[in-house]
Amino acid sequence: MKKLTVKDLSLEEKIHLLTGKDVWRLHTFSGKLPEVFVADGPNGLRMVSRENADNWGGEVYKTTAMPNVVNVANTWNPALAYENGKVIADECIEHDADVLLAPGVNIKRSPLCGRNFEYFSEDPYLAGVMGAEYIKGVQDKGIGTSLKHYAVNSSENDRLCMNAEVDERALREIYLRPFEIVLQETKPTTVMCSYNKVNGIHASENRYLLKDILRDIFGFDGIVISDWGACHNRWKSLKATLDLCMPVKEDAFAQVKTALENGWVSEEDVDFCVENLLNFIYRIQEMKPMRKLEFTEEQRLEKAKAIATESMVLLQNENCALPLKKIPTLLLGRMAEFPATCGGGSSEVSSCHKHPHLKDLLAEKLGVEVTFRSAYEAHLNGLSSARECMDLAARYDQVVVVVGEDTSLVCEGMNRTDIKLHPKHLQLIDNVTRVCDNVIVVIEAGSAVDTSAFQDKVNAILYAGYAGDAVNYALSDLLTGAAAPSGKLSETFPYEKDDLCPDVNFTPGGVDSYGEGVFVGYRGAEDMGVDVLYPFGHGLSYVDFRYENLQVEKKGETDYVISYDIYNEGAVDAAEVSQVYVGQAAARVARPVKELKAFSKDVIPARSKKHVSVTLDHSAFAYYNVCIKDWHVENGTFTVYVGASSQDIRLTQKIIVTLPDETQFT
Ligand code: BGC
Repeated sequence: MKKLTVKDLSLEEKIHLLTGKDVWRLHTFSGKLPEVFVADGPNGLRMVSRENADNWGGEVYKTTAMPNVVNVANTWNPALAYENGKVIADECIEHDADVLLAPGVNIKRSPLCGRNFEYFSEDPYLAGVMGAEYIKGVQDKGIGTSLKHYAVNSSENDRLCMNAEVDERALREIYLRPFEIVLQETKPTTVMCSYNKVNGIHASENRYLLKDILRDIFGFDGIVISDWGACHNRWKSLKATLDLCMPVKEDAFAQVKTALENGWVSEEDVDFCVENLLNFIYRIQEMKPMRKLEFTEEQRLEKAKAIATESMVLLQNENCALPLKKIPTLLLGRMAEFPATCGGGSSEVSSCHKHPHLKDLLAEKLGVEVTFRSAYEAHLNGLSSARECMDLAARYDQVVVVVGEDTSLVCEGMNRTDIKLHPKHLQLIDNVTRVCDNVIVVIEAGSAVDTSAFQDKVNAILYAGYAGDAVNYALSDLLTGAAAPSGKLSETFPYEKDDLCPDVNFTPGGVDSYGEGVFVGYRGAEDMGVDVLYPFGHGLSYVDFRYENLQVEKKGETDYVISYDIYNEGAVDAAEVSQVYVGQAAARVARPVKELKAFSKDVIPARSKKHVSVTLDHSAFAYYNVCIKDWHVENGTFTVYVGASSQDIRLTQKIIVTLPDETQFT
């Protein structure tokens, strides 16, 4: 097939190419161009069959539900983000999808955002690092990706028209920063713009976002796709350099044609995007030889299990309730049998795997009898025989209760209304704790959950997130001690839904004012002195880790190697996520107390130590200065904090930065 250039296409063809052929494909002009077929992610492959490409609701292939992005982030293990990408790409290869519409690196500004389970973190650095590895994993196997949703898509209600009003500094330091980090690390084939407006202009028509920042500053050279239905006016979005409007849009051709006739856009504007589109289409073809099917269905599930196991977060473990004792155990909660594997919406995978009952896996691993009662019905309705559950629980010295939120509560297109568990689930936990003093709670959910109603009454709480098809395998390994927990929270768990951010479900006049600026998540909690339930970065294991011997070695003006020892004081091998934060107390501009700038996840054998080292560069000290429209490091004293969480700081050291005077302002 001859490789076409812009000159080979008629004006009509060029205008057609600016909009999808149908729901999932680009135009080919009867075979003149190779076909490109896109499909959803990020929590596994969700793809309609080719025969259904022209309809929204077609049957989707059955694939592996991978640990959701919330879980991938909670591993704090970039290598697993890469592996996750590889497995999903393998399924793309099997089903002949060319581009995976994932991942999303939006900031979790509020725990209520209905898509938090699809996003990595409240922290731009963590989101950027993990997002980049995910993309590398997919693209190294010859499948394209879509870095989404650009930008400031942190709430789902009224997402098609909501206006996120955010100041320039917060935009650059928080909301755009994960995109910037990803684009420094790798080259996604596409970026997907978001539905919402940013500072009054729809993302799809926002030239400042798409051209001035994304292309000119971040150097993005792929195509920008609209989110499905986010392109309202095709010529206005063309003016903003949106390359591809998806899906097919009946009036798009006429809009561009009229704009050309009136001189509102020029043929050069069309050609700019058409050239990007042709480069993209041929880039996808050039990637095809990299596509090698690698894994069987079983191997994919094994990989999903490895990620899921590292992703679960042990929030509390009083009286060493976990790992479970080898004693008769009562297991309560329908989700133990029918787990909540993922959130709802365009990322919901139609699973090809059976989910073993947690009861059977626990019984096998513990070698004891495990009694199970469903306790509540599907869709959280009704508590089945509360009396029976209490009577039973009174006879057990170990009770595991599995609760959470399913897709009826957590779904794209709507925000959560609360972070408290459903009253029926709270009631169940309460009932059981009245008669048993060794209760272990497992929570399956996609974002922060308020556990304050029961945390003092139960011994242990394990946050499973949405761990995908392998959830019960991972849970059984962690609960029985076959594996030690090593996940940490990639988002703060606040006490109240609006402790850290105004309630995003009330946006007067459709304007969501991001008045907290850069003080998002733990940055805000520390600035305001707000107590949180579980801090960013928190997560326990079955061992304790001791940190010592912090060394800060200067390598350049703003380049440092930070190293320290972590000692595993326990009797089992375990992995620890150590976090390095940097803060500048006496800065001229208001800055967060500290910000995550590096982290490391290390497996440390029992009763031994590991020397860990990470690096800091200019970006560890810089803030975005809106006057010079650039990152700036202000000379002064910085503190390096090394911790097991954002609030469990074990080691600190001061660094004095003295850049040449000409870089400074008087
Ligand atoms: C979602 C995107 C998704 C697209 C295609 C939209 O509703 O916001 O994330 O990729 O649909 O399904």
